[in-house]
Amino acid sequence: MTVSYYNQIVESTKYIKSIIKDKPDIAIVLGTGLGNFTDQIEVKHIIPYSVIPNFPPATVKGHAGQLVYGELNGKKVIAQNGRYHYYEGYNMQEVTLPIRVFKFLGVSYLLIASATGGIHEDYEAGDITVVNDHINLHYNNPLLGPNDDRLGPRFPDMTDAYNPKLIELCHEIAQENKINLHNSVYGGLPGPNLETKAEYNYLHIIGATVVGMSTIPEILVARHMELSSCVLTAVTNKCFPISAIRKVTHQEVIDVAQQVEQKISTIVSKLIMRI
Ligand code: HPA
Repeated sequence: MTVSYYNQIVESTKYIKSIIKDKPDIAIVLGTGLGNFTDQIEVKHIIPYSVIPNFPPATVKGHAGQLVYGELNGKKVIAQNGRYHYYEGYNMQEVTLPIRVFKFLGVSYLLIASATGGIHEDYEAGDITVVNDHINLHYNNPLLGPNDDRLGPRFPDMTDAYNPKLIELCHEIAQENKINLHNSVYGGLPGPNLETKAEYNYLHIIGATVVGMSTIPEILVARHMELSSCVLTAVTNKCFPISAIRKVTHQEVIDVAQQVEQKISTIVSKLIMRI
C-alpha cells in the first residue's frame, strides 16, 4: 500500500523528533556553496538524509545532504544543509518535503539562502540580495492536485510570501554592518542549464532581477503552511546587460557563493537573534 503524502510527512517528522526531542523555532535552508553557515550553530544533532524516512538523497555538488539541529544566538534552529532541486528529477512534493516537515516540527520561520544570477544592471557578481517577490517559471507547482486541508488552504494568498518585517530587519542589519543589500525579484526556472542570453533578457523584461533554480517551490509550500519566510541570495554571476554575460561553470557559482557566504551569514545570524 502506498503511504499518503500527509503520512509521509508525519513519519519523517516522528523520526526527527525521536532524535532532537525539542521544538525548533527557525528552519534555515542552505543552498549552493552556502553550507558553511552550519559552523555558527552550536550543534546538538546531525541527521543525514539517508536515515530519515522518505527523504531522498542530495545529489548536487556543494550540497551536503544533512539536517543540522542546534542553537544559534539563543534560538533553536534546524538547518537543511543541501536541498532538493526539481532538475534532479524529484517531483515537487519530494523537493518540498523538508519544508512540510519543518512546519510539523513546530518551526514558525523559514530562512533560505541561495545562489542566483543577477539580471539587474546594478548587480555585480558577489553582491547579495533579499528577495521581495517572485515569478514562477517552473511550469509546475507543489500545490497542484487535490488540496489536503490539513496542510493549508486551496488558494493561498501570495501578497506577503516574503515577510515584509523580515525584509526590513535584513536591511537594518545590513546597514548596521555596512553590507550592501539589494531588494530583488526572484525569477525561478527549473534549470539545470543556465539561461540563454535571450532568456536572461526576457527575465529582465518581465521584471525579475535575479534568477535561480530553486526557492520558489519551497516558498509556495511555506506560504501554504503559513511559515514566515525570508530569502537571501548570493549573486554569483552577472547576467545583465547582455554584453556583460560571460561563460559560467557550476564550480564558479560555488566559489563566488563561498566568497560572499560571510555577508549572508552575518545577516542570517543577526536576523535569528532579532526574530
Ligand atoms: N541562472 C540560474 N541559476 C543560477 C544562476 C544563473 O545564472 N547563477 C546561479 N544560479
